[in-house]
Amino acid sequence: MDRKFDFPPVLIDKLRAARRVTVLTGAGTSAESGVPTFREAQTGLWSKFRPEDLATPEAFRQNPRMVWEWYAWRRELVEQAAPNPGHYALARTETFVPSFTVVTQNVDGLHQRAGNKKVLELHGSITRTKCFTENTVVESWPETSSVPPPCPKCGSHLRPDVVWFGEALPDGIFERALAASTGCDLFFSIGTSSFVYPAASLAHEALRQGITVVEINPQATDLTPKATFSFQSRSGELLPALVAATWPAAHMGEC
Ligand code: OAD
Repeated sequence: MDRKFDFPPVLIDKLRAARRVTVLTGAGTSAESGVPTFREAQTGLWSKFRPEDLATPEAFRQNPRMVWEWYAWRRELVEQAAPNPGHYALARTETFVPSFTVVTQNVDGLHQRAGNKKVLELHGSITRTKCFTENTVVESWPETSSVPPPCPKCGSHLRPDVVWFGEALPDGIFERALAASTGCDLFFSIGTSSFVYPAASLAHEALRQGITVVEINPQATDLTPKATFSFQSRSGELLPALVAATWPAAHMGEC
């Protein structure tokens, strides 16, 4: 760790004493793993494409091949990516806090690969595939030259099991995320532009309950002026330092 962070002692004490911690993560958490974010001006995924051209059911109906191929490209990128020190620091934190929940907008599975056990995937997972018509997860399908491949049961198109604009979140997941966000001692918002609802509402709901909210993001967001603490830093640098400052005796492993 080559950079020193000046953490307020009150935050370190609060984290050390916390029984329940909830963390909301967004694409910025995976940026240091080489997975592009969505909204950054030069490098964000949406700087090259309009979201409604690729991430809506209408776009898929109109051009299923283009949408399938875009997700196939992202799936490959995610498979080749590895969790970064920020992911590992969150996995480490889970070992110290009795009830630790990661609520993520990311579809890349990197929190689970780092070792976090309780992860609520608000926007699904790019690693899973489902039937466009039946909405059921499909584990495997026969080799085919069709793009996208047909559902082996009904013949409809297969699609990634992610949430597109205009679609509902997976059943019951937001209720679980809200309960975790309003019933914790400490809430973190990490690497998210706080732009997309309902995920962005979780930090505000936590604040309404009087919960300490910590934001980690190199850029200011709408949440920044409201957060109890705001660190304009990269999560892959700040989180390992925060864990080391909070539990100094603990061996950091991969962090
Ligand atoms: P965005 O691309 O909107 O925001 C990423 C945030 O990460 C930005 O605010 C960056 O400043 C910040 N960031 C960049 N590098 C970082 C780093 N190293 N450490 C910490 N933060 C960093 O991504 P999300 O907020 O995740 O939804 O976007 C939310 C949703 O919008 C996505 O889940 C996706 C998208 O449309 C769907 O596809 C449904």
